[in-house]
Amino acid sequence: MDKRGVKIVALTLVAISTSCIAVVWIVLSGGFYNVAGNVQHLPPVHSLFEYALQESVRYHAKDIVAPATPEASVMERGAICYQNKCLQCHGGPGVAPNDFAQSMQPLPGPLMDAPQRWHAREIYWITLNGLKMTGMPAWEHRLSEEDLWAVTAFVQKLPSLTPVKFAQLMSHSQAGQRCERTPDGATRAGDIERGKRAFYAYACMGCHTIPGIIFFPDPQVGPPLSGMASRTRIAGVVDNTEAHMVRWLRDPNAVKPGTAMPAMGMTEQDAVDLAAFLASLR
Ligand code: HEC
Ligand code: HEC
Repeated sequence: MDKRGVKIVALTLVAISTSCIAVVWIVLSGGFYNVAGNVQHLPPVHSLFEYALQESVRYHAKDIVAPATPEASVMERGAICYQNKCLQCHGGPGVAPNDFAQSMQPLPGPLMDAPQRWHAREIYWITLNGLKMTGMPAWEHRLSEEDLWAVTAFVQKLPSLTPVKFAQLMSHSQAGQRCERTPDGATRAGDIERGKRAFYAYACMGCHTIPGIIFFPDPQVGPPLSGMASRTRIAGVVDNTEAHMVRWLRDPNAVKPGTAMPAMGMTEQDAVDLAAFLASLR
């Protein structure tokens, strides 16, 4: 191709991409794209998101090695955790999801076919980290490592469980057993990175901003937390020490009766990690 040919091709490409950006901008800024949850995305948008999700999970989970989980632990602990934390949205053989989950978009699938799509390490990764913009929660701060693997192995069992067997397993776990993490004590010093993730896991960002770090549609419920390290008092009532911060985070009302900041049901270790993160905000 001569110089003129190259120029024509280059100009055509620039014109095409500029028009594409202009069309997308008009559709978005005009509010024409329908974000209603009771209709699906347009097919190309759906395929794009689906593709990005699958490739992202595959890539991020590629180095995880699934441990062998004993059968008994899968059928007991895995079933209890599934019932406590997953059944509401995903249902199971012969069991419908709760009403709110049936009309979520994207729909939390029934998981009976998930093992066909995903390796164990990928089911574990999805359960640990959640999936952005789908409604699939991250369980990192809610399930222990053993429970994450037990529930992963239980999901892999779903295709082989009859509705009768599934109902039996769910009724065993109804006998008051919860899938909570025990013991609830701090066993190591605060981990800033984990504390930052805990900030997302405990709904803190719904009420607080940390300018430059946490982006959420401008919450105005609690004070911004930037510069927390140099603040002398917490909520104006106690000295800003690590022990006070842990206490504040776990039970704000005990520190300042009548405060609007709610207790988020946090383990001590997560509070220690969060306190380390807050103390890093200079
Ligand atoms: C609040 C509802 C909700 C709860 C509770 C929930 N999930 Fe999900 N889950 C979702 C949504 C929404 C998706 C995304 C579906 C999509 O994008 O197609 C999803 C996707 C998944 C997927 C990928 C499914 C697939 O076939 O591609 C797995 C695996 C999964 N969840 C496992 C779990 C496990 C295990 C639990 C319990 C520890 C759980 N989920 C609890 C809503 C939920
Ligand atoms: C429902 C809203 C809400 C949520 C969720 C919430 N907070 Fe708060 N937070 C508040 C309010 C309101 C205050 C002010 C309390 C007062 O002074 O009585 C506050 C105060 C604070 C303070 C003291 C700030 C200062 O300037 O002294 C810290 C630290 C804090 N919150 C951290 C957190 C963390 C970390 C989380 C997540 C675990 C969280 N908050 C979740 C509403 C919330």
